[in-house]
Amino acid sequence: MSSLFITFEGLDGSGKSTHLRRAVSWLEERGVPVCQTHEPGGTPLGDAIRRVFLDSQWGQIDGRVEAMLVFASRRQHLLELIEPTLAAGTHVLCDRFTDSSCAYQGSGRGLPADWIDQLDLLATERRRPDVTLYFDLPATSAYERGRSASRWARGDVDRLDDENLAFYERVRHRYLELVAADPERFRVIDSDGDKENTWHQVEAFLEQIFRPPEVTP
Ligand SMILES: Nc1ncnc2c1ncn2[C@@H]1O[C@H](COP(=O)(O)OP(=O)(O)OP(=O)(O)O)[C@@H](O)[C@H]1O
Ligand SMILES: [Mg+2]
Repeated sequence: MSSLFITFEGLDGSGKSTHLRRAVSWLEERGVPVCQTHEPGGTPLGDAIRRVFLDSQWGQIDGRVEAMLVFASRRQHLLELIEPTLAAGTHVLCDRFTDSSCAYQGSGRGLPADWIDQLDLLATERRRPDVTLYFDLPATSAYERGRSASRWARGDVDRLDDENLAFYERVRHRYLELVAADPERFRVIDSDGDKENTWHQVEAFLEQIFRPPEVTP
């Protein structure tokens, strides 16, 4: 089996990071070579861009500037980490990728889809993951989770958490359009239930993809 590039997508608070960590542990326990990474970031330069991107001190960053920052980080990530890791035979599990740009910078911030597409062409030559797990839940649930007291207490909130519910609605709508346009690539995970329910869906996917080869006598 050639190594797979798998991305985790969804609204803030949809459970991407929680289940990505668990999926990595699940694979490591079975001896499957796996690399865990995230966007924006994933490289020293990318993580520096991420800090700029998420820092509230800049106030409202222009949508085009934001898009260029994330695609700059993405190109570095592909060249420095993702492609070499896949070429070396290790699966890559990545928290967010270009679908996030389409949903957040596109529908969320209102950048025309063809601008995003031009940046995508320039930065990634329209590189798509092999599989994308999309964690779906109503915008209201994500909004509430994103604002939960525990996350605020941990300081685990960033500039995007300040956006309003309508923003989340637009982002979810765009994600669902992306899923409809490329159903082969996406696997929709219903993440509106409790964590174990969500995990069982992720585990079922992992079992299907990483099933050990059948030994013929
Ligand atoms: N079904 C569920 N799956 C995952 N997390 C859940 C679920 N129900 C509640 N949570 C809680 O929601 C919060 C958000 O989870 P997590 O940080 O994994 O989301 P995320 O998609 O990575 O968000 P962000 O985009 O903001 O990083 C956590 O505090 C988690 O405990
Ligand atoms: Mg996260």
